[in-house]
Amino acid sequence: MNRDPRQVSPHPILREYYQDETQRRRFLTQIFDDTASHYDRIAGLMSLGSGAWYRRFALRRAGLTKGMKVLDVAVGTGAVASAAAGIVRPSGAVTGLDPSAGMLGQARRKLGISLIQGVAERLPFREGAFDFLSMGYAVRHVVDLRHTFGEYFRVLRSGGVLLILDFARPRSRVGLGLGRFYLGRAVPWMARLSSGSKEAQILTHYCWDTLETLVPRETIMAAIASSGFEDAKGRSWFGLLSEYVARKP
Ligand SMILES: C[S@@+](CC[C@H](N)C(=O)[O-])C[C@H]1O[C@@H](n2cnc3c(N)ncnc32)[C@H](O)[C@@H]1O
Repeated sequence: MNRDPRQVSPHPILREYYQDETQRRRFLTQIFDDTASHYDRIAGLMSLGSGAWYRRFALRRAGLTKGMKVLDVAVGTGAVASAAAGIVRPSGAVTGLDPSAGMLGQARRKLGISLIQGVAERLPFREGAFDFLSMGYAVRHVVDLRHTFGEYFRVLRSGGVLLILDFARPRSRVGLGLGRFYLGRAVPWMARLSSGSKEAQILTHYCWDTLETLVPRETIMAAIASSGFEDAKGRSWFGLLSEYVARKP
């Protein structure tokens, strides 16, 4: 299966890992299943331990408050979802969605939230079901940005908020060099040494490769806006973290 040329793909097919869309999906499910038990340690290395407070800070700043119904797409082991649950409970609720059974298994051990296996491109929820939709560090894994944001638009209620968190491709040469060294080389080796898992090394290396080839922030912003969202704002922290917030009219 090849990509439709009208799609807005977050990055090109990376031939070092897969040759087409079918292989890409298989690769992703396999690598996240294989590394699920190491993921929290790996994420700690990548974020230099800042992950939990940063996710909570970003959720609050985007307007998440007590009582809201949240969908966390690409829930993984639950890092964004647990921060969201801490804010919305007891009157609100968080639902997590992810294609990887391994990641969902880890999330299930830690979080008392509803967890569903599925992909961002095809959400198994009715229109207007959620007040807030978050996606952490996974926008580069979807097949088509416009189609995915169209799904996000559909399941949010009018006035609902979209928050996307990700790394950003550094724009300066110095930033790119530092990113290449730390995320592209040091983290994969630390991940391998600390977990003993070759897959953990491959995953972290792949994460950098997808980041290095990620479409520019403007393309992501344009895809959000063209899906019907308004007040779309993009922000970058230290040139390395990206945040996109938008509202359904
Ligand atoms: C880097 S992890 C992020 C986990 C979590 N959101 C966090 O902040 O730590 C990326 C997650 O995206 C999931 N994923 C990959 N492709 C996806 C898709 N098409 N739709 C939804 N999630 C996807 C993976 O299974 C994995 O759990």
